[in-house]
Parts: sequence; structure tokens; C-alpha cells
Amino acid sequence: MKILLIGKVGQLGWELHRALGGLGNLSVFDFPQVDLERPETIRGLIQNVRPDLIVNAAAYTAVDKAETEQDRAWKINAVAPGVLAEEAGKLKAVCIHYSTDYVFDGQKREPYVETDEPAPINFYGRSKLGGERLVQETDSAYIILRTSWVYSLRQQGGFVNKVLQWAREKETMRVVEDQIGSPTWARMLAGLTALLVARGGSQLYDYVGSRRGIYHAAGSGGVSRLEWARVILRYDSNPEQQRVKKLEPASSSEFPTPAARPPYSVLNCERFERTFDLRIPGWEESLQLAMGDRNTGP
Ligand SMILES: NC(=O)c1ccc[n+]([C@@H]2O[C@H](COP(=O)([O-])OP(=O)(O)OC[C@H]3O[C@@H](n4cnc5c(N)ncnc54)[C@H](OP(=O)(O)O)[C@@H]3O)[C@@H](O)[C@H]2O)c1
Repeated sequence: MKILLIGKVGQLGWELHRALGGLGNLSVFDFPQVDLERPETIRGLIQNVRPDLIVNAAAYTAVDKAETEQDRAWKINAVAPGVLAEEAGKLKAVCIHYSTDYVFDGQKREPYVETDEPAPINFYGRSKLGGERLVQETDSAYIILRTSWVYSLRQQGGFVNKVLQWAREKETMRVVEDQIGSPTWARMLAGLTALLVARGGSQLYDYVGSRRGIYHAAGSGGVSRLEWARVILRYDSNPEQQRVKKLEPASSSEFPTPAARPPYSVLNCERFERTFDLRIPGWEESLQLAMGDRNTGP
């Protein structure tokens, strides 16, 4: 099987590069070889590689900047996935793409299911929803995995690393408690993607074709950012380096951002689990593994 992975340096792309390697002949492209802002670079690339499977890990993920870079965010998050899926359809290749919990407005108080009506409250969410719709309009064999609160311990700046850093700098940490979501370890999501591909095996096109659609795939369960921070500190393997003595609840209104965030975006992943006969680990179970790995891994 020829696999084309787009994006290998982002949180998920880096893990997919590792996870998909054993499943076929993997070609990996990143910006600037492929620029999702310029669809012609995508079409040319796909026609050259002629893959059986396209996995798109690239996206415009700067949620706040997207408010002012709407044209760019739309091209990368909406137009480009549509082009990828269209080209996949021409080749009878499978297309796997990722979307976001931010397609929802966060007004629900129980986990979102795939049939809930999207109503994004920021431009990033609108552009990702645009991508979902343009992929769905094609006649390709596609899977869209909606995920949420993706983290990786490899990259500075993500929530987990930030919490560990703040804990070493401050005695009192204030973290918002009015945002509730499903933390998702990038490696876990890449592993799920690889398992799904392996399930299809040599019949991948028919396997995905008969199951094509949107699925929720995120760390199982939900948690506030405040509670997430508390658990991160608990799994810190160098707690003696922490200066923090108090972890206090804060409200999102204390930290205004250009883009609004949904207050609640926990995803119900039962449809994914049932369809692909896979179990998604609880968010805390994955976090514990991720933080253990941080201390022992390369
Ligand atoms: N992060 C989250 O919390 C989260 C939550 C829900 C859903 N998702 C979705 O999950 C997927 C993976 O997210 P992630 O966290 O791994 O994102 P990420 O770490 O920000 O990686 C995205 C990658 O896309 C690349 N990219 C940006 N513009 C590009 C362009 N014009 N052409 C080619 N590549 C371009 C970025 O390159 P540069 O770094 O050079 O810009 C980056 O390497 C995305 O579809 C995202 O929307 C993420």
C-alpha cells in the first residue's frame, strides 16, 4: 500500500510518521514541498505519488490568529481538504482527515455525538467545519476524525509542557475551570489511525468506503483545564522541582483571547469504537503513559 502523509512536523503528523511507517510504503511531505494554501501543489503531488491512502495531518491551528487571517485559514482548513478528498476520489484512494471539537458551540452539557448540529463560535471552527463539508461533498472513501485538545510532550508551548513550566516558576497558578474538554495524546490518536488502517488491510478502500463519514476520536472522558492541570502536576516525575503551592480556579473572562472557546466540548467516541472495534483509552490513562514516556523515552 502506498501511503501519502501530509504534514510530519506537527504534533499529530510527527506521531503518524512513526505509526504509519510499518503499514506500507510511506511518502511524507511537509511545507513548503506541499503548501495547502495552494491547491495546485496538492493536485500535482497526489498525481505523482498515486497513493492508496492519503492522511492529512496539516492544518492551520492558530485559533486566535485565524480571526484575522481568515482567508489563509479557510484555504488551508476548508479548501485544501476538499481538494485532497477530490483527488483521492479520482484515484480510488482512501482519505483520512482530522477535524475539531471547535465545530460545536459548547452549550451542551453532555458529550457531543456526531449527529449534533455544529455551530462554531470562532473562525478556526468555521474553517474546519468548511473542510468537513467539502470533503463530504466528494465521492471519495473518506474518514474524518474529529478530535480535541491534542497534546504532545515533544513540543514546547503545548498545555502539558506549559503547566509543568508554570509550576516551576510560580507559587500560585490560576487555571480556567470553565472550559471542559477531552485531552487527546497525539500518539494515541496516531495509533488509533494506524489500527483503523490495519483493520481495512488489503481491502482498505472497500472497508472505509462502507464506513465513510465523521467520527469522534478523542481521549475518553472529559475534564476542566483546571483539573487537567492538577493531574499533570500529579504525574510530574520531578515534583521536587515544582515551586507551586496553590492551584486556583480562574474564569476564561480573566484571560480574554481574540477567539472565543466553547465552554464544553467533550466528545462521545462510541460510534468510532463500535464501528472499528477499537477501545479508546481514558484521557488520564493516556496522560499517565505520555508523562512516563517523557521521562524514559528519547
Ligand atoms: N491541537 C489541537 O488541540 C487540536 C484540537 C482538535 C483538532 N485538531 C486537529 O488535529 C489535526 C492535527 O493538529 P496538530 O495539533 O498536530 O497541529 P499542529 O501541531 O499545529 O500541526 C499542523 C501542521 O500543519 C502545518 N501547516 C500549516 N500550514 C500549512 C500549509 N499551508 N501547508 C502545509 N502545511 C501546513 C504546520 O506547519 P507550521 O508549524 O510550519 O505552521 C504544522 O506542522 C489538525 O487537523 C487540527 O485541526 C487539533
